[in-house]
Amino acid sequence: MASITLDKITKTYPNDVTAVNGVSLDIRDGEFMIFLGPSGCGKSTTLRMIAGLEAISSGDLLIGGRRVNEVDPADRDIAIVFQNYALYPHMTVARNLAFGLRLRHVEASEIQSRITRVAALLGIEPLLSRKPSQLSGGQRQRVALGRALVREPQAFLLDEPLSNLDATLRASMRTELIKLHNSLGTTIVHVTHDQVEAMTMGERICIMRDGDIVQVGAPMEVYRNPADTFVASFLATPPMNLLPGRIESDGDGLAAVVETCRLPIPAAYREAYASHAGKPVIVGLRPEDFQAVAVGGGRTAPVALHTITTEVLGPEVILVANFASPGGPEVHIRMPRDFRAKTGETVTLHFDLPEIQVFDPGTTRVLARPFLP
Ligand SMILES: Nc1ncnc2c1ncn2[C@@H]1O[C@H](COP(=O)(O)OP(=O)(O)OP(=O)(O)O)[C@@H](O)[C@H]1O
Ligand SMILES: [Mg+2]
Repeated sequence: MASITLDKITKTYPNDVTAVNGVSLDIRDGEFMIFLGPSGCGKSTTLRMIAGLEAISSGDLLIGGRRVNEVDPADRDIAIVFQNYALYPHMTVARNLAFGLRLRHVEASEIQSRITRVAALLGIEPLLSRKPSQLSGGQRQRVALGRALVREPQAFLLDEPLSNLDATLRASMRTELIKLHNSLGTTIVHVTHDQVEAMTMGERICIMRDGDIVQVGAPMEVYRNPADTFVASFLATPPMNLLPGRIESDGDGLAAVVETCRLPIPAAYREAYASHAGKPVIVGLRPEDFQAVAVGGGRTAPVALHTITTEVLGPEVILVANFASPGGPEVHIRMPRDFRAKTGETVTLHFDLPEIQVFDPGTTRVLARPFLP
């Protein structure tokens, strides 16, 4: 097991693309860290630099406190499972699993017992004598994962290892990886595009954009307190609704105004938003923070929603509507499964005011406010 420290790490490829731009991050010993971000933001490049497969242009990489910039990949004791996993086509699954261990001169009986254990864990025992060409995509992906597991390294780097699996297998592998981490306690860095994987698997999420780290934190911390509009719109589907509005004074308090709708700002947030009074802002409203019934004590405020369509998903219904007026911005709202509304119908819902987030439209940063229970 080992901690992994990135200190102002930059990667510029020979074609002058700066894929990773001065990134600093402390991954704790035994931590399950998620890298999340859009395609091309530098997730795989970062992983490959940690593994030693890509030279670091500048900055320091420490594994277990030791600077390893120039250390050979084989001497870093880190296993990586690639996005485009490559198995040796001429070897059986069992030999694919054994290969790395043989190179390291692990004893034959030890190799056998590790393969048996990992094959059982991944449900690939019936496939051990097959060649990769005789496997499905998902089965190959599990073998690739198995090849990393049998090594029992100090850290696992997983580059979208579940992306080729069907929904059921993906869900069970997600659970298996969490269990595996609980039992081994090995440091894991897991790259994903998948919101559910990001929210459910990691102890912390590191959100990347254009070669930079935008925010690092526990999943619910990032979800409840997105640092900027990018994070707010990236995490969860449907994401936070981001609406152009203004902060205005409202009696002796403040209100966020979007179109004709006034959302009174909870007293505890006034200080945080005061500097933006009279100015344009972006108002962030999560889809699940609207409800059919008003709550007393000024906890909620009514909002008129002009129905565009409803998406009946089974466990819930997504109401797609224009906010406050028929020409207002489009919003997505989570409703209970029995909710129905016709196109053109106006529905009044009640927004849970303590859940409001306000962003500066210039910097896109959140206006940091206290956190109410
Ligand atoms: N070998 C390379 N040479 C030049 N540019 C590269 C190379 N590999 C990646 N890039 C560029 O570096 C940037 C980051 O790529 P990277 O593969 O790290 O992204 P990613 O976040 O893993 O994306 P994805 O989610 O699509 O896998 C991209 O602009 C990409 O085109
Ligand atoms: Mg990638």
